[in-house]
Amino acid sequence: MGALDMIDRIANFIAGLVEGRDPDLAGHHQRLGSSAERFGLHLGCTSEEVSLLCLGAEIHDLGKLSISDHILNKPARLTASEFSLIKQHADIGADLLSPLDLDPRVNDLVRFHHENYDGTGYPQGLKGDEIPFFARLARILDSFDAMIMNRPYHKGVSTERALRRMEQDSHCYDPNLLHQFFQSVKA
Ligand SMILES: [Fe+2]
Repeated sequence: MGALDMIDRIANFIAGLVEGRDPDLAGHHQRLGSSAERFGLHLGCTSEEVSLLCLGAEIHDLGKLSISDHILNKPARLTASEFSLIKQHADIGADLLSPLDLDPRVNDLVRFHHENYDGTGYPQGLKGDEIPFFARLARILDSFDAMIMNRPYHKGVSTERALRRMEQDSHCYDPNLLHQFFQSVKA
């Protein structure tokens, strides 16, 4: 079996697990896989990079399977201790994947997709280019999808409003990638 076939099988296996537990999360994963493919192609990534980026995007919140539904789908504001539990999902997901010995760029995307460019994110508070490239990319795609979609705790906003919010929160994102993302959405 080729490496790309294996990637597909792993993505499908994890998608099945997630679908059974949290169909909303499965939808978020699917959309992020599609947007990662579009954005990766827009950026001129190689086909191998696009495949790995899509895999990472399609499984990036895998660690949420370990967090209780009560917290994940809580319609009210999370308490500080609930939020600190949620924050563990990035490390949990990457740790769950480690026995598969995937390309490290995939694990890095999963572990670091909530790092902010200015160092205010989690789990490690990495800053700027310390944050792996795929994770900087996923940070943008993840935020955009989270803003435009309805979730139990939030009503989706229009594309224009989401882009404005991202501009206001630009400290979270790699500025060059954000610029490219705006261009790709407006194209
Ligand atoms: Fe996440």
